[in-house]
Amino acid sequence: MLNIILMGPPGAGKGTQATRIVDAFHIPHISTGDMFREAISQGTPLGLQAKAIIERGDLVPDDITIGLVKERLSQPDCAGGYLLDGFPRTIHQAEALKDLGPEIDREVALVVDISVPDEELVRRISGRRVCPKCGASYHVQDMKPAKDGVCDRCGSPLVQRKDDNEASLKIRLENYYKQTAPLQAFYAKEGIYHAFNGVCSADALFDEIHSLLEAHQ
Ligand code: AP5
Repeated sequence: MLNIILMGPPGAGKGTQATRIVDAFHIPHISTGDMFREAISQGTPLGLQAKAIIERGDLVPDDITIGLVKERLSQPDCAGGYLLDGFPRTIHQAEALKDLGPEIDREVALVVDISVPDEELVRRISGRRVCPKCGASYHVQDMKPAKDGVCDRCGSPLVQRKDDNEASLKIRLENYYKQTAPLQAFYAKEGIYHAFNGVCSADALFDEIHSLLEAHQ
């Protein structure tokens, strides 16, 4: 079963690979970042709570994030596999997911980790433009949409994320190394960890990830 975690630092290309993976394998894309951004744009209580935290680059508290993912993973469309993008991000979240998986018969089978050096992450994040509607990601130099400022997938106008600035990125990277990078050893111990070098074209990286996922189908 393709029950997958996609991890990596901010700007590694998780969202870019996620859209390709879900299109190829027809599994739901569960991005906690997208879920929070959707709640913010709708002005829900969750969005009001998360807005300032996300814009300054900090992590949303574990209890809120775990509750959100538990509810989403329990939905019927996740029975045939799922792609978790940006969750878990702390050891506490990983432990909660480890308990939840067998409870709902949806244990994680594979962890795909994309690594990219910090200088390249800064370059990618500062040039990123995103689609607020479908979540697709572009870059002003490397991955331009066919029509300037317009999403290829759904035709919506592209925007720059509020947390894509130098100050927030510094905090996001610090949080990544302190709180998320330890998950590499956590999942290596579980025997389901797969590391990928993200310094190549998005298509070349997808070919590598695709081969791994196909072999596990
Ligand atoms: P989230 O939305 O998950 O953001 P992130 O992890 O910071 O990752 P990004 O979306 O910035 O980058 P990406 O890896 O998806 O890269 P992309 O494909 O866009 O989380 C946002 C916030 O929500 C967090 O900071 C936190 O506050 C909160 N949150 C979320 N989950 C949480 C959790 N579990 N617990 C607590 N809080 C949580 O690519 C980046 C750019 O590079 C693009 O321009 C793209 O076109 C370009 N690019 C991609 N691939 C390549 C390539 N191979 N070569 C050249 N350019 C490329």
